[in-house]
Amino acid sequence: MQTYIEIKNKKVPALGFGTFRMQGDDCLKGTVEALSIGYRHIDTAQAYANEEEVGRAIKNSGVNRDEIFLVTKVTPRNFSKNNFLTSVEESLKKLQTESIDLLLLHWPSDDETNKAAIAQLAMAQQKNYTKLVGVSNFTLSQMEAARKEADIFCNQVEYHPYLTQNKIRSYLEQHNMLLTAYRPLADGKILNDSELISLSEKYSRTPAQIILRWFIQQNGVSVIPKASDANHRKENFHVFDFELSRVDMDKIFGLNKNERLVNPSWSPKWDD
Ligand SMILES: NC(=O)c1ccc[n+]([C@@H]2O[C@H](COP(=O)([O-])OP(=O)(O)OC[C@H]3O[C@@H](n4cnc5c(N)ncnc54)[C@H](OP(=O)(O)O)[C@@H]3O)[C@@H](O)[C@H]2O)c1
Repeated sequence: MQTYIEIKNKKVPALGFGTFRMQGDDCLKGTVEALSIGYRHIDTAQAYANEEEVGRAIKNSGVNRDEIFLVTKVTPRNFSKNNFLTSVEESLKKLQTESIDLLLLHWPSDDETNKAAIAQLAMAQQKNYTKLVGVSNFTLSQMEAARKEADIFCNQVEYHPYLTQNKIRSYLEQHNMLLTAYRPLADGKILNDSELISLSEKYSRTPAQIILRWFIQQNGVSVIPKASDANHRKENFHVFDFELSRVDMDKIFGLNKNERLVNPSWSPKWDD
């Protein structure tokens, strides 16, 4: 059974379904199937060019829209005052919904542009295009500035056992904000880590399940693995019927090596 995180009286399903690099039928069928397995949190973005498929999948799934925590992100190209709200209206149309649950700025820009985009986010919230607003890939100082302009609910950042985001995590916990962990399986690259394999043998689970369980046992953290493969989708959802010990949780935190996999040319100075 799915578990929920409660932040500021809002409930967020701890385990979501990421859709980056899924398009067309892969995305449509994959998302319908994820919803039938029990996923109730779907992560998309304007930049993924799959909002239309996600919208259709939700409609086709037969699951009530109000049971699903739906997240999309505004791409920096749409941050200008002229484009922002129109682009969100376009997203809503593709997603076949009047309002989403959480709208994020996908990447930070310069301080002035961020400030203007946060004002547009707040406007989208006022218009009820979204229930909650947040950011993604924002540094500590950028989050601090954003919180002065709007009620920022979430920062979605790269987070996995090799990049444990200690500073961002404690900041978000201190301010009662959601941390959504993206690229949680390090794109599959950590699944043959010897420590994770030894834990997987101890608990009779796969390394992916050990990592996902590690996430959902953390306070204030949601996690959104992507899986095009049907078996991966099922495997990743079957993490609600066992528990990692405190010692084993800490062993996984101990794997950190600050190894960042998502670092495009437009990234902020991460340590700011
Ligand atoms: N905000 C941002 O800037 C940002 C950036 C990156 C990602 N994201 C979000 O985070 C989501 C997840 O991140 P991600 O897609 O980059 O990486 P990820 O979830 O860490 O890894 C996905 C990869 O792991 C494989 N995989 C999944 N489950 C597996 C399992 N049980 N066993 C073995 N391999 C498994 C998948 O294979 P198959 O596909 O073949 O199943 C895929 O190759 C994205 O889809 C997106 O929604 C956000």
